[in-house]
Parts: sequence; C-alpha cells; structure tokens
Amino acid sequence: MDEQRYLEANDRLLSELDRTGQRKQLPSRGDISLSSNDYLFLTRHPRLIGAARDELSRSGTGSGGSRLLSGNHPLNRELESAIAAFKRGPSALVFPTGYQANTSTLSAFGNLVDLFYSDELNHASLIDGLRLSRKETVVFPHNNIAWIEEDLDRRTRGTDSSPRFMIVTESLFSMEGDQAPLTDLIRLVRQRDGLLLLDEAHATGTLGRTGRGGLEASGIEWDPDRLILTGTFSKALGGLGGFAVCHPDFRELLISKGRGFVYSTSLPPSVLASNLEAIRLLEEDSEIVHLLQERVHLIRSAIGLPPDDSPILPILASEDRLLRFQEVLLESGLWAPLIRPPTVPSGSERIRISVTLGWEESWIQRIIKVFGQEIGLAQD
Ligand SMILES: Cc1ncc(COP(=O)(O)O)c(C=O)c1O
Repeated sequence: MDEQRYLEANDRLLSELDRTGQRKQLPSRGDISLSSNDYLFLTRHPRLIGAARDELSRSGTGSGGSRLLSGNHPLNRELESAIAAFKRGPSALVFPTGYQANTSTLSAFGNLVDLFYSDELNHASLIDGLRLSRKETVVFPHNNIAWIEEDLDRRTRGTDSSPRFMIVTESLFSMEGDQAPLTDLIRLVRQRDGLLLLDEAHATGTLGRTGRGGLEASGIEWDPDRLILTGTFSKALGGLGGFAVCHPDFRELLISKGRGFVYSTSLPPSVLASNLEAIRLLEEDSEIVHLLQERVHLIRSAIGLPPDDSPILPILASEDRLLRFQEVLLESGLWAPLIRPPTVPSGSERIRISVTLGWEESWIQRIIKVFGQEIGLAQD
C-alpha cells in the first residue's frame, strides 16, 4: 500500500493549478476588499441586526431541516410574499443560497424544455444548473440576441415544430458589470414561444429607480408565462439565501424537483428575519438606492468610465500596471482582486471593484487617484 499516493496526486494537481494560474488563494486578513457585494451596506444596518437578534432569541440558531421536513418556519412564506411583491412578480420560493436557487431552478426546468441558450459570461451557478438539467445547452456570444434567432431559425427550417427553449442570462453581469438587453430578450421569447430565466443576483437593490432590478430599470412588465427571475439575499440585501420568482405553478415544480431545495436545510429563522427586514426597508424608502447610484455615477465619471448605474467596475490594463495599482491601494490597506486568464480571456486582465455604501470617503479619494489619472488604460 502506498500511503502517500493521494497526497502526491494532490501535490501534482496543485502544481498544475499554480502553473496555469488557476490556483485560488484566500486574501490576507486585515486588508479591506473593494470587491464586496454588500452594495447597500445593509449587513451593518441596525434594523437588519435588530430583526435577526430578536428572531435568534425567539427561534434559536438553526432551522432543523429541509422545508419539506421540519424546517418550514412561517417566516419563509412571509419572505416569499415580500420578495415576490418587491419584484412585482406572481409568487416566489426561497432557497438556502443563490447558488442553489440557480442550480435547482435550471435542473427542474430541464423537465420542461428541450434546449437551453446560455450567455457565454454566465455565472458558475447557472452553468452548474445547466449541467444538472442534462439537456442540450447552446452557449451564445455575450448578449447576442441575433445569434440566438439565427440558431432557432436553423433548427426550425423545414419542420413545423419548434423546440421548447429557455434563454438563461444575467440582468447585470458579475464580471463585466454590463447589462443584458432585456427588452429584446422578452420580445424574442414571446415571438418564438420560449422561456427566459434572468439571474438578478447583482441587479437586485442596485438597478431601477427603487432597486427592484433589471425589469424596473428597463420598464418591462412581468410576463408570468415566460419569465423566471432568480437572485440572492446575500449581495445588496445584506443577508444570505436565494430566491426564484415565477408563476405559482412553476413554483410547485421547484418544490418537487428543485434538488437544492428538497435536499438541503432551510435558512435559519434569524436570517429569514433580516432578509425580510431588508425588503421592508427598501419598500418603505428607496433613498438608499439613490445614494448608491449617485456614488456609482460620481466614481465612474471620476475615473473615466461611461455613465451607468452598474456598481461593478472592471478596470482593464496590462497585468504589470494592474499589479502596480494593487500595490498602491494596499499601502492604504485596500485590496482589489486581480482577475487573470483563464477566468477572463488573455489580454483582458482586470481589477474588478464593486462600489458600495460601505466605502469611506478617504478610500473613494484614493481609488479615484489611483485609477482616475490612468484610465484609457485598456489601450496600453
Ligand atoms: C450572478 C450570480 N448568481 C448567483 C450567485 C450565487 O449567489 P450566492 O452567493 O447567494 O450563492 C452569485 C454570487 O455568488 C452571482 O454572482
């Protein structure tokens, strides 16, 4: 017996990851990350902390099981009604994480469609959900609706039936910080009798006049027969957990066929309570969303990026230069992650920062100084 063989294989794998730049490192403690998703800084909001603390005293620390067993605390339904109303949608289901909302929803919809179209920049949770669905998945060039139309034309030419399909994309893309063409996407699924799944993980709380997300920002009405939204409470809403907003009949499907819903412990009641408080807060007053959008516009304009509500700022430059920026920021204890191939294509190395209301004025000045003078960097 060779007792070392698994550790040796592990060493070889880690070396290979090092060599190809795929080895992940945890950031050192103490540095402040400029890539937090806590856009509205709700993680520190007294109302959310109070709601969680009160519920913790009432209900204890854990939920005790899956929703289908002992974990169906009544706050789940309250939170579902609240997030459905916030998204102006017909009904909602809550999941333990946003990752599970995506994997469960897509694997369940694999029972209804023949084919998925997936944007090439989709998040890993969407990609994993598509794999779980075991249905054909066609990856389309980023935001290229004409490409999907041509592919559908090709598939339907000479037949009188068209495939049942779902387009899977993000309202606000996590790496690029750009938005999907929602109006065109809705038009396409209406015309060609398909479904649209929009991941609103980053759009929730950041886009739209009152932070309701991509549909509000694009002025699109709900279409319950065609549209499914997913998202997370873990970013702008300052908590943890995922959701799907959809037709109540689709919700029934997710309860039976969403494996990440069925086979995983539900959220602790204290987390449900703080998530609910976040929604109530935004329903009562969306001033906080305006504050974020104002800050985003100010910083974008100061560092020479085009005006947009997107708080995700990818800053492209040569790797040497980005490393220098990283060093300068670190002098103030600010850490901005550098994203290299293969996560992004070679030549598009970037620092990706996300603007939040937790940033202090002195950091903003520092960031503007470091990036501001130098932008136009993509060309160097
Ligand atoms: C686009 C997108 N979808 C889904 C998720 C998963 O959400 P969660 O972190 O709640 O699992 C994330 C973030 O991690 C994301 O960026």
